[in-house]
Amino acid sequence: MAEERKFDRFGRYLILDHLVDGGMAKICRARFLGEQADKVVAIKMVQPQFSKDESFKTMFMDEIKTTFGLLHPNIVQTYDYGLQNDQLFVAMEYCDGRNLKEYLDQLKKRNFVFPVEISVYITIQSCQGLHYAHTFTDKLTGKPANIVHRDISPHNIMLTFDGSVKVIDFGIAKSETNSEATQAGTIKGKLSYLAPEYLDGHDLDPRYDLFAVGITLWEMLCSRKLFKASNDLAVLKKIQECKVPKPSSINPNVPEELDKIVMKALHKDRNKRYQTLEEFGRALNKFLYSTYPDFNASDLSYFAKELFKEEIKKDRERLYQFGQIDIKPYLEDMKREQEGEERPLKLLKLVLVMEQVREGSGTGS
Ligand SMILES: Nc1ncnc2c1ncn2[C@@H]1O[C@H](COP(=O)(O)OP(=O)(O)O)[C@@H](O)[C@H]1O
Ligand SMILES: [Mg+2]
Repeated sequence: MAEERKFDRFGRYLILDHLVDGGMAKICRARFLGEQADKVVAIKMVQPQFSKDESFKTMFMDEIKTTFGLLHPNIVQTYDYGLQNDQLFVAMEYCDGRNLKEYLDQLKKRNFVFPVEISVYITIQSCQGLHYAHTFTDKLTGKPANIVHRDISPHNIMLTFDGSVKVIDFGIAKSETNSEATQAGTIKGKLSYLAPEYLDGHDLDPRYDLFAVGITLWEMLCSRKLFKASNDLAVLKKIQECKVPKPSSINPNVPEELDKIVMKALHKDRNKRYQTLEEFGRALNKFLYSTYPDFNASDLSYFAKELFKEEIKKDRERLYQFGQIDIKPYLEDMKREQEGEERPLKLLKLVLVMEQVREGSGTGS
């Protein structure tokens, strides 16, 4: 009797649900089908029509090449990747939380703002992940990877409910290993997080990401977008002008020292910004602990758990249900599939051995 298989198996993963359905890719939650142990992972699945497109495939593989070796607490870790049922996919660490944009929206809904110290802490953590990526050296070749993320915005920073901060989506990150990640003339990344040097056609370096992290901090402090206008062209004009109001002029809780740090990160001339994300993070760290000596990393977790109380409860129940799924039938299907693939190979080996035996006996004596 055929057992019930309510969920879709995708290679060695059992798809649980879809978190986000973007135009090109969707993000799913899945259970990794291990014989002994299993866990929840996130899978980014490229829609089939894009998976067939050769240039898209190259871009996707470039993303993998860029991020596969990265191992840092502030960057989502990639576990696995490949082509399954004609679909390109990446399996990665599941972040049990929400992206920063969702936090900002939730706060707005409730008429709250991010406490200053939490905004600063999130930024410091993002700086650490990005600085690691910027200075990453490929362990196997010894060559610097020269990674620039290029798409930093609140959408691409995940905040987990237990208080960790993780940069995601190195999809367009340009590195030395990339073929031609972005074509000239096409803007990748979100428009309102571009830095002025982009418009001047300069080569982009880590200071480009630094500017986007600066905008993100400004937006957390001010609960509004920095470069906002009614159309794309007007946004670009604002970026070119790069007129940045002091955060304290919008949020009186922002101390002068933090104003200075933010304004330096958002300097139009990249030579006048902090030169590395480490330098920026260091200034923020000094400010954080001199102004808020009692701050502790767990404060972000308390804040997140309070802000998303209801969502967390629902999500826990859902995950618990996923945990109840009997994975045995799926494991058996997977095994059968693997054996099915091996059988022709074994048969081929047998034929070769037989031929060798025949040849051996023919030439002997
Ligand atoms: N590892 C993950 N764990 C949990 N949610 C994730 C994960 N990766 C992505 N997401 C969610 O999916 C959204 C889109 O993912 P992303 O990789 O940024 O794809 P896109 O290329 O569509 O921007 C993110 O903003 C986040 O909300
Ligand atoms: Mg994204």
